[in-house]
Amino acid sequence: MNPKVKVLLFLLCLTGIFVFMREYVKQPPLLPDDCTCVCEKGDSGLMSGPDQGWFATRFNKNMQPFLSANYSLPEEAFNWWKFLQYEKRSYKVYEATMKGLLEMFPSTPNLPKPSPNHNHYRTCAVMGNSGNLRGSRYGPLIDANEVILRMNTGRVEGYEADVGHRTTHRIMYPESALDLEDNTHLVLFPFKIQDLEWLVKALSTGFSGTSYMPVKSKIKANKDLVMVINPAFMKYVHETWLGKKGRYPSTGFIALLMALHICDEVNVFGFGADKDGNWSHYWEALTNKRLKTGVHPGTQEYDIILALAKQLKIKFYRGW
Ligand code: C5P
Repeated sequence: MNPKVKVLLFLLCLTGIFVFMREYVKQPPLLPDDCTCVCEKGDSGLMSGPDQGWFATRFNKNMQPFLSANYSLPEEAFNWWKFLQYEKRSYKVYEATMKGLLEMFPSTPNLPKPSPNHNHYRTCAVMGNSGNLRGSRYGPLIDANEVILRMNTGRVEGYEADVGHRTTHRIMYPESALDLEDNTHLVLFPFKIQDLEWLVKALSTGFSGTSYMPVKSKIKANKDLVMVINPAFMKYVHETWLGKKGRYPSTGFIALLMALHICDEVNVFGFGADKDGNWSHYWEALTNKRLKTGVHPGTQEYDIILALAKQLKIKFYRGW
């Protein structure tokens, strides 16, 4: 073959290989691969480092995780929230219910004051309920945290070696409620006005309403340690962190984001579906094989958890 043609063919091959590598091999990364930042959680630290774009465009430090007497829920956030469970009642009813609730419980959330270089808490363990905790032996690691945030009916007794002993906060809604120790904070995840009414009644005269599942009429909990998640915070997580995927974020994902807003160091345990994509629990065998992740965007939530870990914003313990 003519040497000129050979050279031309060689150059053509090289170009082809280059184009192939560019198009197919190098997928655009979800996050910059070269995150070498220290990622301190001080006021400025949160926004520093090479991940500035990804994290800073999502994290809004002014977003209030909890409702309080000096906070007014924006009406558009109320309107988003009221359709989660088809609440028909108006903003006025919400306001009146909240007024009564904040007369009975702390009017501002029970949180230690942050200092200029620190958040409310130093170290927090966010405990999802995934089956991957079974046999993990994470107990001592979890107990070493200042705050241990558990969710819904997440069991402790009999599972201490894997999930630790203490519970400083429990996030629940009426349909997932249980009795709490006197030193555990009750963090209500409200989906409807009735959930706010339930809180007031369940800790006083008893609740007699009905829901899509049986609801406890009364529960034991310390009234001074009650906190209510802000519906606008849920909307922020749904829109800003999950790009409106799924109907609304899971309890666990909201808890994780809440921890990022109130803790210096966030340690995450018990998140992740089983091999069939179901959100099974560490204390029970799965009965509903078509559970998947329900109305929640499980895949997107998991991807964001991995991304936050990669960016050193959280420590993620995957279990076994
Ligand atoms: O099932 P439950 O809602 O009580 O679990 C609490 C949270 O733990 C969920 O909202 C979800 O965020 C997380 N979870 C998980 N993987 C599982 C089970 C639960 O990520 N297998």
